[in-house]
Amino acid sequence: MSHVMNTYSRLPVAFTHGQGVWLWDAQGKRYLDALGGIAVNTLGHAHPRLTQTLAAQAGRLIHTSNIYRITEQETLADKLAAISGMDKIFFCNSGCEANEAAIKIARLCAKGRGIENPAIVVMEKAFHGRTLATLSATGSRKVQAGFEPLVSGFIRVPYDDLEAVRQVAQHNRNVVALLVEPIQGEGGINVAHFDYLKGLRELCDQYQWLLMLDEIQCGLGRTGKWFVYQHAGFLPDVVTLAKGLAGGVPIGACLARGAAAEVFKPGNHGSTFGGNPFACAAALTTLEVIEQNKLLDNATRVGDAIRAGLAEALAGAKGVVAIRGMGLMLGIELDRPCNELVQRALDAGLLINVTADKIVRLLPPLILSQDEARQLVDMLCALIRDFLSQPAAAH
Ligand SMILES: Cc1ncc(COP(=O)(O)O)c(C=O)c1O
Repeated sequence: MSHVMNTYSRLPVAFTHGQGVWLWDAQGKRYLDALGGIAVNTLGHAHPRLTQTLAAQAGRLIHTSNIYRITEQETLADKLAAISGMDKIFFCNSGCEANEAAIKIARLCAKGRGIENPAIVVMEKAFHGRTLATLSATGSRKVQAGFEPLVSGFIRVPYDDLEAVRQVAQHNRNVVALLVEPIQGEGGINVAHFDYLKGLRELCDQYQWLLMLDEIQCGLGRTGKWFVYQHAGFLPDVVTLAKGLAGGVPIGACLARGAAAEVFKPGNHGSTFGGNPFACAAALTTLEVIEQNKLLDNATRVGDAIRAGLAEALAGAKGVVAIRGMGLMLGIELDRPCNELVQRALDAGLLINVTADKIVRLLPPLILSQDEARQLVDMLCALIRDFLSQPAAAH
């Protein structure tokens, strides 16, 4: 019996090592990793540049404390500011912590404006994490059930529906911010229209709300630009990052601009490990390799090829509802629950995931090559066709 707490229903496999987009188990079986640790392994596995940085940094300095200056953190903040258009960055260790920081910024901002009971607009089907505040912001009863009382101060609206937000704005004077994923990940790879996002920017300006984007899953190059908001052509006030930022080393970041960047003062927020030299060195190398190896372009090119390949191979397949996403953040919606596809893919040597019951999700490393993409499409489409060809009762 394992002494690990029972928080995940785990697949019956453990990997011993990886190389590029491939993983191996103890029996020597090889798997194509089309999930990348759920959008974490930006550079795949055992990337020589990242390995070298980690070894060198561990040999030099792993951790000091945020009560001292940290050169690697300052350099990473400069780099993130340059690629994002944001002004200041708070570092932590995970996505939920980055969102906690964003929520605290919004609340402190409200107090500064004399709003005693502030509210943040959040979305149906959103996922923002599993701490008490972030699960309260999350739009899934499954995530919240059992943890009541939830943190108050969130107003929920349907996703990608500007009119719903306008209604809230007209009827609620306590709103101080809006938190949204430009592409919902856990919610089913739901891509917001760019006009909607731009409309949110205008509403937030009009009502003096902070526009806070959770780009923890969709950001950092996966869609072909550093951030999804850059496709839409505007700047948010706050952006949260984690997952792929340091290629697998735990890190989170809350980026803020303008007044939002100046809200926190010493004593308002903190994190023991946040922004330590080891994690920041890993992030700096990850960003450098993304740039030097032109992985943003690669994400667009290879992502487009996968979409085209899926569309062709699944054309006419009854039961495929939609193929959607951007770059290397892709979802294939089926007309029925398809969780068992995950085990079938594992058996076939392919790592995928199913989210929101019916959506096969792909979040491969950004280094995926065209040839590997073809293998992915071939394997996956055979599995989906086979799955869909069985009578519905079998599922
Ligand atoms: C969009 C989004 N926000 C927040 C989180 C929470 O991140 P973490 O698990 O690092 O706390 C996730 C994780 O899946 C996510 O996809």
